[in-house]
Amino acid sequence: MDANVFPVPEAIAKTALIDNAKYLEMYDRSVKDSVGFWAEHGQRIDWIKPYTEVKDVSYDPHDVHIRWFHDGTLNVSANCLDRHLATRGDQTAIIWEGDDPSESENITYRDLHARVCRFANAMKAQGVKKGDRVCIYLPMIPEAAVAMLACARIGAVHSIVFGGFSPDSLSNRIQDSECVMLITSDEGLRGGRKVPLKANADKALETCPSVTSVVVVKRTGGAVAMTEGRDVWYHDVVAAASADCPAEELDAEHPLFILYTSGSTGKPKGVLHTSGGYLVYASMTHQYVFDYKDGDIYWCTADVGWVTGHSYIVYGPLANGATTLMFEGVPNYPSVSRFWDVIDKHQVSIFYTAPTAIRSLMREGEEPVQRTSRKSLRLLGSVGEPINPEAWLWYHRVVGDSRCPIVDTWWQTETGGILITPLPGATALKPGSATRPFFGVVPLLVDAEGNELSGATEGNLCIADSWPGQMRTVYGDHERFVQTYFTTYKGYYFTGDGCRRDEDGYYWITGRVDDVINVSGHRMGTAEVESALVAHPKVAEAAVVGYPHDIKGQGIYAYVTLVAGEEPTEALRKELVGWVRTEIGPIASPDVIQWAPGLPKTRSGKIMRRILRKIAENDFGALGDTSTLADPTVVDDLIDNRPDA
Ligand code: PRX
Repeated sequence: MDANVFPVPEAIAKTALIDNAKYLEMYDRSVKDSVGFWAEHGQRIDWIKPYTEVKDVSYDPHDVHIRWFHDGTLNVSANCLDRHLATRGDQTAIIWEGDDPSESENITYRDLHARVCRFANAMKAQGVKKGDRVCIYLPMIPEAAVAMLACARIGAVHSIVFGGFSPDSLSNRIQDSECVMLITSDEGLRGGRKVPLKANADKALETCPSVTSVVVVKRTGGAVAMTEGRDVWYHDVVAAASADCPAEELDAEHPLFILYTSGSTGKPKGVLHTSGGYLVYASMTHQYVFDYKDGDIYWCTADVGWVTGHSYIVYGPLANGATTLMFEGVPNYPSVSRFWDVIDKHQVSIFYTAPTAIRSLMREGEEPVQRTSRKSLRLLGSVGEPINPEAWLWYHRVVGDSRCPIVDTWWQTETGGILITPLPGATALKPGSATRPFFGVVPLLVDAEGNELSGATEGNLCIADSWPGQMRTVYGDHERFVQTYFTTYKGYYFTGDGCRRDEDGYYWITGRVDDVINVSGHRMGTAEVESALVAHPKVAEAAVVGYPHDIKGQGIYAYVTLVAGEEPTEALRKELVGWVRTEIGPIASPDVIQWAPGLPKTRSGKIMRRILRKIAENDFGALGDTSTLADPTVVDDLIDNRPDA
């Protein structure tokens, strides 16, 4: 056996839901008889009116539409709550672990149901109706899950904005989807530090006339301004509301949520997911990828501000009647053993995190891990960016005591759920590979002209057919949806990722092939950072690229040309970093700013990013042809003045 292949451990093989023979059989059917396969698996959730139509999909650029189970009706919150009450009402649905280790709470399905019903009624009393958009800007507290499910219960469409985003970013997102309500808290708490969420929200709302009501959760008790007639306290409105709130009957294609994500151009786009197909896919992938069984304690460390939190903290696990842990804090507070302490405290059996967290904890050595037991663990997961084999091996050996398989799950905000992944009982693992497609997923590698490549090869990753969790449109801009995903390679969904396929048919994601970078698992459009920089009065021009970063995966490297007469000082460099933080949020802070008297441009004025990427990577030997540049000497200048990244 190849030393770099990790076979399915015997203990897992004995109990896993899916073994290799079963995977191959189910996968084969899922692609040969997609309609039959999904007709059957669509039944895993409860429908009010059963569907008779399974799939209605076209990738034709003139008529892109994606509908699944579309004549069925259901309610997502009823699937996550009501249907479990008879069998598991007293089981813990959510284990909440606070930022401070002395704070935690177990919420049963019965209790969660009651909280959701109350808040759903409170939202209705505030005037929220089916189809209205509701923005959620909350820390990782149970009210975030309650708010999501309450929206789903009444057919309102939630749009969660990560608590690390600035007032400007929040405002842009609220405006784009014309939210009528904003749900926030006085402050957030992360690593012992307070985040002024309500103050940020107040600033954002200065430019958001659509928002008529703001609900504020009291988290820290910090002083906040409340605007008469607009702002209400969460605890007041739920106290006044009834716990009886029948779930609305909604079409399968009724929108469930909008989630903004970065693209290679322009502003972030509102990825729209709908109800039936999304829930089928999120719950099915959660069950099979994590081999979830009753009794497991499952922990995904993501934030509900990202798609991973939507599908794998809230919707997938709760639809499956799972116990899901929700963590308010950060991996290194109060100590770098925090993750492992929480695993021991709550006896977590399945742990799902991001490579950037693994790399930063790996830097702290093995002792902070080894001082904890972690005996309860049986499965580990990774998501958000490629995991380098070194981090994979450390995660496997040190965290998992060489006992736990790692599922390296590749997917995107757009895909709603995991598309390429090992199944723990079926797949031999190779560190760094997301391995094989999930049921119903047909990955294709194509060259720049769109020709399909066969065998062991490398190319651009497309998906040939639809799957139920696929996004349906860009909110308010279907044309952008078509342009972004369905016009580059006709007939396929284009992911924006590069990928290699090896001789065993395993997939290895190599990273984005467009102008999107992945910083600590957070997706960032270089164009967004550039437009924030050029909004500064002293900046004439900016070009932003990613470069390899030991902890973050990719760092943000900005080339900045100042307006004539401005001096490139250290103080200005700091000011620009702070400026981007304020404009977008801390996750967009440039790691390196290089002063660039000129940028490499073609004679037609197009910036040659390929060259900027190479310089940022410190790879001067491979600059390629620079003869088409309007002024080739700018390249030498950039190389000579490259700061130590
Ligand atoms: O480049 C891929 C990378 O993250 C991108 C999607 O980012 P986002 O929409 O924010 O969703 C992140 C959580 C699903 C992809 O286009 N990516 C995600 N997971 C992996 C990955 N790259 C390599 N391996 C992964 N497991």
